[in-house]
Amino acid sequence: MDGRILIVDDEKDMLVLLTRIVTEKTNYIVETEQDPLKVKELLRKHQFNVIITDLKMPKMDGIAILDMVKKIQPSAIVVIMTAYATIETAIEATRKGAFDYISKPFRKERILITIDKAMEWLKLTQENVALRKSIQYKKESLPIIGSSFATTSILKMINQVAKATATVLISGESGTGKELAAKAIHYNSNRKDKPFITINCTAMPEQIIESELFGHVKGSFTGALKDKRGIVEEADQGTLFLDEIGELNMVMQAKLLRLLQEGEYKPVGGLTTKKADIRFVVATNRDLKKLIELKQFREDLYYRLNVINIHLPPLRDRKEDIPILAYHFLEKFNSLNDKKISDIDPEAMSALMSKSWPGNIRELANCIERGAILCRSDTIKISDILPQEPTEHTSPLFDHTIYTLPFREAKGIVRKAFHNKYIKWILQQNKGNISKAAEQAELQRQYLHRLIKEENINTETFK
Ligand SMILES: Nc1ncnc2c1ncn2[C@@H]1O[C@H](COP(=O)(O)OP(=O)(O)OP(=O)(O)O)[C@@H](O)[C@H]1O
Ligand SMILES: [Mg+2]
Repeated sequence: MDGRILIVDDEKDMLVLLTRIVTEKTNYIVETEQDPLKVKELLRKHQFNVIITDLKMPKMDGIAILDMVKKIQPSAIVVIMTAYATIETAIEATRKGAFDYISKPFRKERILITIDKAMEWLKLTQENVALRKSIQYKKESLPIIGSSFATTSILKMINQVAKATATVLISGESGTGKELAAKAIHYNSNRKDKPFITINCTAMPEQIIESELFGHVKGSFTGALKDKRGIVEEADQGTLFLDEIGELNMVMQAKLLRLLQEGEYKPVGGLTTKKADIRFVVATNRDLKKLIELKQFREDLYYRLNVINIHLPPLRDRKEDIPILAYHFLEKFNSLNDKKISDIDPEAMSALMSKSWPGNIRELANCIERGAILCRSDTIKISDILPQEPTEHTSPLFDHTIYTLPFREAKGIVRKAFHNKYIKWILQQNKGNISKAAEQAELQRQYLHRLIKEENINTETFK
């Protein structure tokens, strides 16, 4: 990746040293400025990728430079150097949008690693933008979004089976897109101009489901004041989607089996059989084989339904779909809420990528909807999408009750919060590898290991 870096420091020696470190090991173009008051002009002239600035300088400090960069070149990354490496200044700088801080004196690897990470971060942002553009292009023609191997295989399978008449059983956890897949099958089939009707087997009371499905004749039960057509008749020549098929009772299972096998059924109270030409798609989030063992589901019906099985994996097993889905939902909720949010910032995106999403794609959609509503700028930030977890995101330093505690106790709390946050951060950077994390943090491996144990942090979650 090409890149242009600006270094600002009032000490000439520091500029010379940093230029040498960066140009020795990278191909980035480096510019330096000793007078912070001239930075504004430079920012107007050139687009920089990374700006490394000293914190304490006469005339103008690093925080003011940071504010200026955010205004003039919001996509540039700012790294603060400070000889006064207290937690407070570091937190203040990163809270205001600095990417990282480096304490002086530093080792040259520290500078190079930080620049590397910054460039990586920028690359991710650019990929997000490219993804968003590709969605705009495809949006109309492709309602099932996803670029993972799993999703593209599912799309292929849907296209292959759509034109057949065989029954399709769609399985998958709640919110994985079973209904969407059923619709895609219908609208890609030769039946697309005929009805697509959904019936949810859970939602329907047991006594009513038979008459809803098959209809009834007048007088067949109290309240049956006239003949009624059933859903099966409505769906004739089209597709009937039986959702939550695992909830259907045994009596209805037998009647459904007959319909599937013979294409015949009888309305409630009727004497004559009727015929129907229906394509069945059924869905379940339960394990039907288990239900068979428990004698709650007919084995013969299962085999009749499971001619073609499409399994939709949970979102946590196809994380590559998350960015493209997130931008897809962002566009949707932009137009619903009359907003013009164009980006999801990399920190927010990596939080989306690391969640386990028990509610799958539905939960992701809800999360982006909340983000779109709460977002006050053109970029969704982590605070817009994830509720504040007090231990994770707020520092005890900013909680004034800490100052009412005895000094030792207060210090213990702040120290613990800092350890926890620092360790998680460094482990995340190094994908849970303790040796590498220790090297980057310039700590003894054993010491870091002890801190990890003290904080009860599971390194597996960063892999
Ligand atoms: N691949 C996808 N691309 C775009 N939107 C999707 C995708 N998968 C699911 N969705 C959306 O997520 C939401 C949930 O999907 P859907 O209702 O089809 O899930 P489901 O598996 O039927 O869930 P449940 O078991 O809870 O009924 C819907 O709004 C759907 O449009
Ligand atoms: Mg559903």
